[in-house]
Order: sequence, then structure tokens, then C-alpha cells
Amino acid sequence: MAILLYNGEYGTDAWCEAIHAQLPHETLYLYPDIPDKAQIEYAAVWDIPPGELATYPNLKAILILGAGGDFLLKDDRLPAVPIVRLVDESVVRDMVQYCQYWVTHYYRRFDRYAQQQLAHHWHRAEYPPLSEYRVGVLGLGTIGTQVARSLSGSGYSVSAWVRSARDTEGLTLYSGADQFDAFMTNLDLLINVLPLTPDTDSFLNLDRLRLLPRGAKVINISRGAVMDEQALKTLLDTGHLSGAALDVFAQEPLPPQSWMWQHPKVCITPHSSGQTFARTAVHSLVNNIRRIEAGETPFPLFDRNSGY
Ligand code: GLV
Repeated sequence: MAILLYNGEYGTDAWCEAIHAQLPHETLYLYPDIPDKAQIEYAAVWDIPPGELATYPNLKAILILGAGGDFLLKDDRLPAVPIVRLVDESVVRDMVQYCQYWVTHYYRRFDRYAQQQLAHHWHRAEYPPLSEYRVGVLGLGTIGTQVARSLSGSGYSVSAWVRSARDTEGLTLYSGADQFDAFMTNLDLLINVLPLTPDTDSFLNLDRLRLLPRGAKVINISRGAVMDEQALKTLLDTGHLSGAALDVFAQEPLPPQSWMWQHPKVCITPHSSGQTFARTAVHSLVNNIRRIEAGETPFPLFDRNSGY
């Protein structure tokens, strides 16, 4: 058996080492150096060029090397093999921590203090009681649910929006298109955790973002293309929105000439809210290869229709 490995711009050294340690007898080939495509049974990939995966005649499964599989949606020749998502508790924990950090930052007005420091200005800001600071989580998958629960556990007033109603114990839930406006108009801060699919591409456009109350903040940790970046700029420039912590961008790496780098109300991190480290994520990958070899179903499966 041989495994094809490709991790886009993020490199494969750590993955090679981690997979070798777990599966010492399997051969690893690094795309694009594959002497014989017929040997490849597993493709452990991230951001591989569209069309490539269709060229391996004996492929048994595609194992995504990250949380989101939206790069696969660009490929209209995906082979009919199971596609397995990677769920790593460390990644989820880090993304929760990232949200806690930025929510604290905005709630406690550390954004204002950063500006005040530039002006050598000493002034204590007020902030509402914790239970009155309204945080909305858009999208309640594995990550969104943990983010919402953690912030709610910290005492914030947390609500969430999902496409279709479901039971989520302890969380204030809005669902469907008809409750979207009510969700957005009741927030001090919005966290976007929606996966990128054809339905969510530019979902946060000018009209939807404008529903947020004046002065609201946004945090984006899912995919840049879910939020219309020009609409965000318009709303930041007019003062309708007062801050954005962005980890993901329509184009990555964010081009040096992007307006976002120097916008005073934008904080940028390089798609690092929840990095996938091979040292922990390898277990999900290897366990799924073992499951498939034992005739069992791998999990969690990526649904190519819903796109997540
Ligand atoms: C990162 O965004 C990932 O999907 O793992």
C-alpha cells in the first residue's frame, strides 16, 4: 500500500515523520513525485490541484489534512471513494481559545486601549456586564458548537444561527432564513464559523452584515470567501462596524497590497486560529486507514453534496 501526501503551502515534513512513526511499513509519496500512480491507495491531501485525484486508479479513500474540505468542491472529477474529514480535538480547542481571546479583546475594549496608547492617552473605558454582551455564532458544526458552549460557559450572552432547526441544549438558537435578521440585529459581536460551500460563498454580503447593530465587531475563523471583504471595508469605513479580527481571507496568503493589513480596525492572523499539527492529527488519519483496511467505515465522512 502507498499513501500520497500533499499539504499545499503548509509542507509535509511533520506529516511524513508522524505517519512513518505510526505506519512504518507503508510507502509515502509526496505529490507530484509519484513513480507509479497505481500503487496509491490513500490520498492524504490539502489543496491538491483539481483533477489530480481522478488519476489514481486504485484509490480507496481521500483523507483531508485539515478541518475544511472546501478545496475539494473545486474538483468536478473527484473519484467515487469515501472522503474523510479530519477532526482533531486540539484544533477545535485552539479555535475556541482564539475566539475567547478576541471576544475578551473587544468586550474589555483592548482595541480602544491600543489606539489610546498610540496617542499617549490615559482613559478607562466602560463595558457592559458580561451577561449583557451579546455574542452570535454563525454555524454550529463541531467547531461552532464548542465555541458557543465555551463562551456561554464564560458568562457571555451567546446565541447561534443554523440553517435548519435542531436541538441544542442550553444555547439560544435562531434557525432558517426567516430568523436570520432577528439573530443579527441582536448582537454586539458576530463570529463566523460557516463552512465555505456554494450556498455560503459571500453569504455575509453588505445587506446581511449591515443587519448588525452600529458599532458591532466581527470575527472570521472559517473561510474568507464567506464574508464579502469589500462589504466589510465599507461598513468599517462608515463606522457601522467597529472592529474585525480576521484569520481567513478570500485570497491566502493575504497579498501584501491588501487594504486589510493597515486598516486601523482590522486585526489579522495568518489562518492560524486552529492549525493542524501532524503530531496530534495523525491519529485520526491513521485510525481511519486502519478502519478501512479492516473493512469498517471511516469517520467523520465529508459529504460532497453539503460541502462539509
Ligand atoms: C483550516 O482551515 C482547516 O480547515 O483545517
